[in-house]
Amino acid sequence: MLKTHSLIEPQDLSVEEIDHLFALADDIKNRPQLYVNACAGKLMGTLFYEPSTRTRLSFESAMNRLGGRVVGFSDPASSSATKGETVADTARMVSAYADIIVMRHPWEGAPKVASLYSDIPVINAGDGGHNHPTQTLTDLYTFHTVFGRTCDLNIALCGDLKFGRTVHSLILAMSRYKNVSFSLISPKELRLPDYLLDFMKEKQIPYKEVEKIEDAIAECDVLYMTRIQQERFSDKDEYERLKDCYELDTEKMKLAKQDMIVMHPLPRVKEISTEVDYDPRAKYFRQARYGMFIRMALILELLEGGYQPKNTRLVPTERKCSNPRCICNHQDEPQQMLKIGEGVYRCLYCDHTEKD
Ligand code: NCD
Repeated sequence: MLKTHSLIEPQDLSVEEIDHLFALADDIKNRPQLYVNACAGKLMGTLFYEPSTRTRLSFESAMNRLGGRVVGFSDPASSSATKGETVADTARMVSAYADIIVMRHPWEGAPKVASLYSDIPVINAGDGGHNHPTQTLTDLYTFHTVFGRTCDLNIALCGDLKFGRTVHSLILAMSRYKNVSFSLISPKELRLPDYLLDFMKEKQIPYKEVEKIEDAIAECDVLYMTRIQQERFSDKDEYERLKDCYELDTEKMKLAKQDMIVMHPLPRVKEISTEVDYDPRAKYFRQARYGMFIRMALILELLEGGYQPKNTRLVPTERKCSNPRCICNHQDEPQQMLKIGEGVYRCLYCDHTEKD
């Protein structure tokens, strides 16, 4: 059984637990007939407050293939959110009906809030520009399946490193494996947030920041492409200016190693030319399929945690989180800027860090 009741950020799982999930996902992939009733009688609530194709369908396929059932919504306009119901109350309600919750929300920290008040496990399926831990499990499981390892990798992350939650979660997760280094390819406006650059420095993870794919493609084992996250831009002109800044094409692929792989959490816009799809090094569609198996393994393991009544009552901190995208600045959640060092504070919900 996993130590954690919910999966909110990648560090909620230990390296050993992730290895166990890989082994379980391998078994599910190889012997699916053994698992067709593994979740019979169990119900998953999918609460999607933000658009999704892959993640929602992947979770729903995973639960259906395990013999469980799914209830939920994919359009918040059809939920009580439009009546002003808070995430905390919705989570309390759904824990009265279902056995596990999968939540995607545009506000950072929303699934964390849900997990504080829900009596059943909550899986974060993406919260704003913050985290996306099950995409990270998908990515790690792809490394495991293709390379047979999750260590000794040079990973080039390309595109919107500022708002790309899949990139953020991947860096956090990879920090625990040996001999991992990063090339960060982005325009200056879309550089990785400072809290993650500080994190890499603290963990002594080698990285370089560059602006062109050509500056990193030759040495990488993985080229992880991402979309420019249109919905997170407050300045639409800036999006228009940056939206086509990268295109991986067959010419650039000639510079890459023969055994490197190209990954993408998808959806793709124009950052990978469709000609690249025919290159055997392109693994993004396969990656999406691996995601379903690792989510099946995760659901099975989290369901073991079962029903754990919560009675959370947080005392608000005086200091307030200044991240405008944090849930605590949209709903009446008690502020939680916790002191993590001398004059350093971090928000419990969204990880936004401030110094005196
Ligand atoms: C990603 C996401 O939602 O963050 N998609 C996904 O879950 N596979 C990437 C994206 O939307 O660009």
